[in-house]
Amino acid sequence: MKEKIYIFDTTLRDGEQSPGASLTSEQKLEIALQLEKLGVDIIEAGFPIASADDFEGVSIVAKNIKDCEVAALARARKEDIDSAASALKYAKNPRIHTFIATSDIHIKYKLKMTKDEVLETAVNAVKYAGKFTDNIEFSCEDAARSDLDFMCKVIQEVIKSGAKVINIPDTVGYSVPEEFGSLIKNIKNRVPNIDKAIISVHCHNDLGLAVSNSISAIINGARQVECTINGIGERAGNASLEEIVMIIKTKHNYELLENFYTDIKTKEIYPTSRLVSNLTGIVVQPNKAIVGRNAFRHESGIHQDGVIKKRQTYEIIKPEDVGVPSSELVLGKHSGRHALEKRLTELGYKINKKLLDKIFIKFKQLADKKKYIFDEDIVAIVNEELGKKEKQQLELKYFHINSGSGVVPTATIGLLVKIGAKTKIFREVEFGDGPVDAAYKTIDKILCNILDIKSLPQLVDYQLKAISSGKDAQGEVIVRFEYNNEIFSGRGISTDVIEASIKAYISCWNNFLIRKSIDRKVKIQL
Ligand code: KIV
Ligand code: ZN
Repeated sequence: MKEKIYIFDTTLRDGEQSPGASLTSEQKLEIALQLEKLGVDIIEAGFPIASADDFEGVSIVAKNIKDCEVAALARARKEDIDSAASALKYAKNPRIHTFIATSDIHIKYKLKMTKDEVLETAVNAVKYAGKFTDNIEFSCEDAARSDLDFMCKVIQEVIKSGAKVINIPDTVGYSVPEEFGSLIKNIKNRVPNIDKAIISVHCHNDLGLAVSNSISAIINGARQVECTINGIGERAGNASLEEIVMIIKTKHNYELLENFYTDIKTKEIYPTSRLVSNLTGIVVQPNKAIVGRNAFRHESGIHQDGVIKKRQTYEIIKPEDVGVPSSELVLGKHSGRHALEKRLTELGYKINKKLLDKIFIKFKQLADKKKYIFDEDIVAIVNEELGKKEKQQLELKYFHINSGSGVVPTATIGLLVKIGAKTKIFREVEFGDGPVDAAYKTIDKILCNILDIKSLPQLVDYQLKAISSGKDAQGEVIVRFEYNNEIFSGRGISTDVIEASIKAYISCWNNFLIRKSIDRKVKIQL
């Protein structure tokens, strides 16, 4: 019979301890509702005694979440446990998670206690928490560096006092997988009443081993894993939920993991990752497993060819299974003819072999000069080959930005619009949330009046980077917008980042007009 691995999500508690991440109660609730949809078993919503905001966050999550247990953290102190219990008052399935450090270094320098005092404090805390709920989790903080005999004694006594889950954290991410796995095995073998509790693990990523250590712990007897979305958390973060879940799912044929499953609805992984990244402001590294921007992108020609012929040649997970719409073939200097042909078909071109050969040569020449080849670049090559040289129709004539502290950012823009021999300058003014937003709104306002489109494109990406060094570095801005499920991109360069931003947006609109005028979907009325 397969055994369930309980997923204890601590994005809202340990994850929120990531430097720079701080969530309002409403944002915590939004994430909690998504975690509920994702199917986690327990949501650790915060540390109520830590601040009034934390208390409020836990209360609001506790009131609204029905399908998961909601946990609140408390040190092994009465006032912490009172606060946790009170924040969890309206929870359908509350859990109090209390902890004290068991390692010599923490006991001596941080707690300044004796081991006997630690044992007594732990037992008293668990007994006290039992006044509020039967669902008590106890953590031996810094377990991976604790004296095993002492820690086993603490575990035995807190189980006797009512703890139902025993959490073994690698608080400082110091273990390696074999070591951490045997720690779990030893606890299982040495603590006489361990069968009365579930063993949980909570691994930090200081040596990049949080996920590996958690998996080793599962193989050796742990049945609950504490983890966070995108692996965020204190310092180098916690074990990443999406990686643990997908390891268990993907390795279902591997004898050491074949007996385990989780209840996670994996299609919700990517939406949850995006939500957490957007609300915490913590960007996911592009090469992050499962949820990184490049996790399902293939750039080398050999890989692209393989994926086109049979996806599994280079993909072990279906992107759709984790909620990523589909894998992408990124066109660059390593791309082959097959990938280019596929992209051309997706862009609506039916190209014969002879023409494809010519386009491919030009594509390779361009790719040697430019890291990424956008759809517009391909369209330009095709049009050149087809003899349809398209001209840019919009040009920045002038701009003026008024911005600073205490003023509403305002932009005035003069845009030259060309149609054949006819030209006209349009001028508008708009305000926005910042100088770039004001400028983009102004351009939209001008174009709204002269284009026959029903809705405006949505900006989906804005990237600014320095492409040279020094005080007078050139800034490069790349923007992308979406219109009726099609993506258009543009690029602008200037030593003035606002100017680069405006040029990039105008170039995006130009690319839109070039593509749309080819299929005669959009016309400019001068
Ligand atoms: O890392 C840790 O030890 C913790 C405990 C409070 C569980 O976050
Ligand atoms: Zn932690």
